[in-house]
Amino acid sequence: MGQQGRYGKYGEHKRMERLLRGKAPGTGRPGRGGFFRPGRWALERKEPAPDSGLSARPAGRADAEHVHAMSRMFRAYGPYQDILREWHESGAAIAFIGLRDNRPAGFAMMGRISAAWHFPRVAELLAIAVEPSSRRRGLAGLMLQEVEETAAALGAERLILHTGVDNVAARTLFLTHGFTVLDTCRAFYPEGQDALCMIKDLGHA
Ligand SMILES: CC(C)(COP(=O)(O)OP(=O)(O)OC[C@H]1O[C@@H](n2cnc3c(N)ncnc32)[C@H](O)[C@@H]1OP(=O)(O)O)[C@@H](O)C(=O)NCCC(=O)NCCS
Repeated sequence: MGQQGRYGKYGEHKRMERLLRGKAPGTGRPGRGGFFRPGRWALERKEPAPDSGLSARPAGRADAEHVHAMSRMFRAYGPYQDILREWHESGAAIAFIGLRDNRPAGFAMMGRISAAWHFPRVAELLAIAVEPSSRRRGLAGLMLQEVEETAAALGAERLILHTGVDNVAARTLFLTHGFTVLDTCRAFYPEGQDALCMIKDLGHA
């Protein structure tokens, strides 16, 4: 999970910006919205098998209770049920619902990209979860794909996320989807756990 809002998102983004500047090619600073070039992105879309029963769609207001209920999976890390509800309801985040046989079985959330951030434009995956009985079927991967495509369409060049260093399932999921470890953040979560910061280049056409 990420740390948007009251847990220091601004400070974290400033820090990320410094890290990213050190690794990114120094090509100057764009104007506002300067990286939104439709058609520039070439993410390879993998469709789920037709008989998998899996799909994903943008979340609406009616999904708030589902998102809230599923957010309990993050409680070991801090009061994320309240935090995620706040992000979802305030419109500070964009959420997606993962469906299995047309029934909500997971969700993913990314932070809105601010036009005020400068190069390189970075989107953040704030949370992703799948209910236990629907895991290992590819639903998280499908939602991650939706997040990546949305972020790229909004002009992001990279996607970052934070996940607990002890979260083997999440770490493996992200590594198999092309993320690499950028940094370890000590005591990142409200409950004190360390997090891995991972990053993925969303690619160029
Ligand atoms: C992490 C999580 C979202 C994965 O959801 P999922 O739908 O099971 O993931 P997928 O089926 O798309 O898995 C894709 C790949 O990720 C890896 N993976 C997923 N779960 C794994 C596990 N428990 N152990 C090892 N690798 C795992 C595998 O490589 C898997 O491919 P495979 O099944 O072909 O081997 C889910 O376990 C979850 O909700 N956990 C609790 C919430 C959480 O920790 N979220 C992440 C922090 S923000």
